[in-house]
Amino acid sequence: MDMIDPFGRHISYLRISVTDRCDFRCVYCMAEDMAFLPRKDLLSLEELDRLCTIFIEKGVRKLRLTGGEPLVRKNIMHLVRELSRHLKSGALEELTLTTNGSQLSRFAGELADAGVRRINVSLDTLDAEKFHAITRWGHLDKVMAGIDAAQAAGLKVKINAVALRGFNDIEMPDMLRWAHGRGMDMTVIETMPMGEIEADRTDQYLPLSVLRAQLERQFTLTDIPFKTGGPARYVEVAETGGRLGFITPMTHNFCESCNRVRLTCTGTLYMCLGQDDAADLRAPLRASEGNELLSAAIDEAIGRKPKGHDFIIDRRTNRPSVSRHMSVTGG
Ligand code: GTP
Ligand code: 5AD
Ligand code: SF4
Repeated sequence: MDMIDPFGRHISYLRISVTDRCDFRCVYCMAEDMAFLPRKDLLSLEELDRLCTIFIEKGVRKLRLTGGEPLVRKNIMHLVRELSRHLKSGALEELTLTTNGSQLSRFAGELADAGVRRINVSLDTLDAEKFHAITRWGHLDKVMAGIDAAQAAGLKVKINAVALRGFNDIEMPDMLRWAHGRGMDMTVIETMPMGEIEADRTDQYLPLSVLRAQLERQFTLTDIPFKTGGPARYVEVAETGGRLGFITPMTHNFCESCNRVRLTCTGTLYMCLGQDDAADLRAPLRASEGNELLSAAIDEAIGRKPKGHDFIIDRRTNRPSVSRHMSVTGG
């Protein structure tokens, strides 16, 4: 009973935002003054587990915990440990998370023990002052210590950097050498117009074709068929021997092969990152202890998964294509 959408795409990847809160406020992701969800509206960890489990029964093979920052959700390791039973049973191929790295020193060992094999760490610069500026109040040394701890625990780490014109573009060659030197893959991401922020997205936006051309002045990039189940298109960098992924929602969209949906911490299911249409799963979850209503609500939602996003970055309007911030669904 696989989930197949109206465009014939198999839905095998669920991303769960376990909290909309974060200990950073990256300027392209959140406004400085954000109204977070009241804690009473959150699904309990048991409810999140029940939802994930039914998605796995319906064909999901890969789960990714996101946020906000997933590791700031209270007792998050309880959920990770519970979900890991699906790894042991073979029902799930991968349980992973995307994190800002700030709490990894504390959690890396426990994550590895629970069966997590690789994680993605969001990091846009290696310069402590620039890091503080882009996250509004983050400390780079904490993230670096977190990456050290993750690698020491045996976790495979991938670095995600949002490409920001005039901010980190000049630094990319150094970041690439640093990441590859430590045995980490790296992906660069085009900024997406989600939610109202103070900055002008047109100023920040850097098409990755431009970044690729800049990198090709120093590196030999060869396209490779490597795939993780995510949207990145990878190249191998001859000079470093490492992999670099390009995530290009703005210039070269990948919706045709989309395999994922997103669940928020209040039980809202978003069928596309770039659309506001959503389905409420909290009501059917709480209406009955059996899963029939829930299963029907999920089928109905998958049945209206849109073909793709309509992201536009336009200086004349500077309005976000999608009203919610990235922190609601964690990318
Ligand atoms: P891997 O499994 O390592 O490939 O992870 P991933 O790239 O799917 O996930 P990650 O959390 O590292 O996301 C990296 C970036 O890709 C984030 O900025 C996400 O918003 C973006 N991204 C992931 N999936 C989609 C998608 O379906 N559509 C769009 N537009 N962006 C996505
Ligand atoms: N556009 C693109 N990526 C974004 N992220 C946060 N906000 C945006 C945005 N507006 C990234 C984070 C993290 C991932 C989950 O999404 O940096 O790597
Ligand atoms: Fe937090 Fe991630 Fe947004 Fe940064 S990008 S504020 S780490 S949710």
